[in-house]
Amino acid sequence: MIRLSKSVIGEKESEAVTRILLEDGYLGMGSEVGKFEADIASYLGVSSDTVVCVNTGTSALHLAVEAIVAIGEEVLVPSFTFLSSYQAISAAGAVPISCDVYEDTLSIDLEDAASRITDKTKAIMPVHYASNPVNVDKLYEFAKKYNLRVIEDAAHAFGCTYKSKKIGSFGDVVCFSFDGIKNITSGEGGAIVTNDFEVLSIVKDARLLAIEKDSDKRYSGQRSWDFDVKRQGYRYHMSNIFAAIGRVQLSRLDNEFAPKRIELLKLYQKLLGSNLKVLFQKYEIEAYIIPHIVSIRILDNQRDGLKEELEKQKIPTGIHYKPNHLLTYYKTHYNLPVTEKVYSEILTLPLHPEVKISDVEFICKIINNYLN
Ligand SMILES: Cc1ncc(COP(=O)(O)O)c(C=O)c1O
Repeated sequence: MIRLSKSVIGEKESEAVTRILLEDGYLGMGSEVGKFEADIASYLGVSSDTVVCVNTGTSALHLAVEAIVAIGEEVLVPSFTFLSSYQAISAAGAVPISCDVYEDTLSIDLEDAASRITDKTKAIMPVHYASNPVNVDKLYEFAKKYNLRVIEDAAHAFGCTYKSKKIGSFGDVVCFSFDGIKNITSGEGGAIVTNDFEVLSIVKDARLLAIEKDSDKRYSGQRSWDFDVKRQGYRYHMSNIFAAIGRVQLSRLDNEFAPKRIELLKLYQKLLGSNLKVLFQKYEIEAYIIPHIVSIRILDNQRDGLKEELEKQKIPTGIHYKPNHLLTYYKTHYNLPVTEKVYSEILTLPLHPEVKISDVEFICKIINNYLN
């Protein structure tokens, strides 16, 4: 049976977990997490003390927002994103301000965002949707012009580059997710990467109940007994088990996972590219994309019928995402026309390293037959 997405795990991950279970003697946050941070840093080409691993991508975003944005301040965010981006902002007591997206790239529309700036706007949270990095040059120009901090939701974009620079190797604060179906997984997990040492110090402490400087001690098996706490903290740390899985996954990304994901995306593009009722997202020209998902748009009100047809043929599909400004908790008094239109057309097709070429051929055949 074809699956929409999948954790692709093998013997090496199993051996790594077994090593932690049977040899390490500690399953919580210890030296393995420090090693995973060092591995991520070396992959991104940044210094290892600038990477902080946590238990989910959502907590990475939450801690990043809380470190930067005060209660009641506003964060510009595209409505067309996973609920996590919004929950992370509101969990920090900040206010998500829903923005539209560009119809071609599905990245946050900076003109629309500019029109929503108030004296409470503190930050912008762009989302690298479907692994397509937003136009980073324009984004940082925008942030500079309006004096905003940037918290990149790079949950989909681990391993992707913009102008040959890896997402996370530059910029203000960048948050990744390593949940079960991302470009690499640690089971569940996430990371914050930033050069801002104040933010680093806050998030390192906050992931462990805000106990001052306890975090690093754990990497050498120590604890703090006489400590101080100056702010709210959480139990958001990563475990050694998760880190062990993540380290193996990272070692497999460039040689195994990325080529397979890219090959499958190219095949979808080839087989559906000439269908006038199918629209692919326009990728930034200077980006290297390891697609976490492939989401196409189905024109002429045919999305729902096609989704049903695919399901009949046992092909699972998804809708990434229901816009957040349509949810009761985040409802806006204004419309976001592009987001709402795209929402009615978007369809996510199966993509993970174990999808076969013949699966994609089969799926595309059904789509082309149905739409023609
Ligand atoms: C755009 C986006 N942001 C944030 C997250 C949150 O990551 P996690 O599932 O690790 O909490 C996800 C995960 O699905 C996501 O797709």
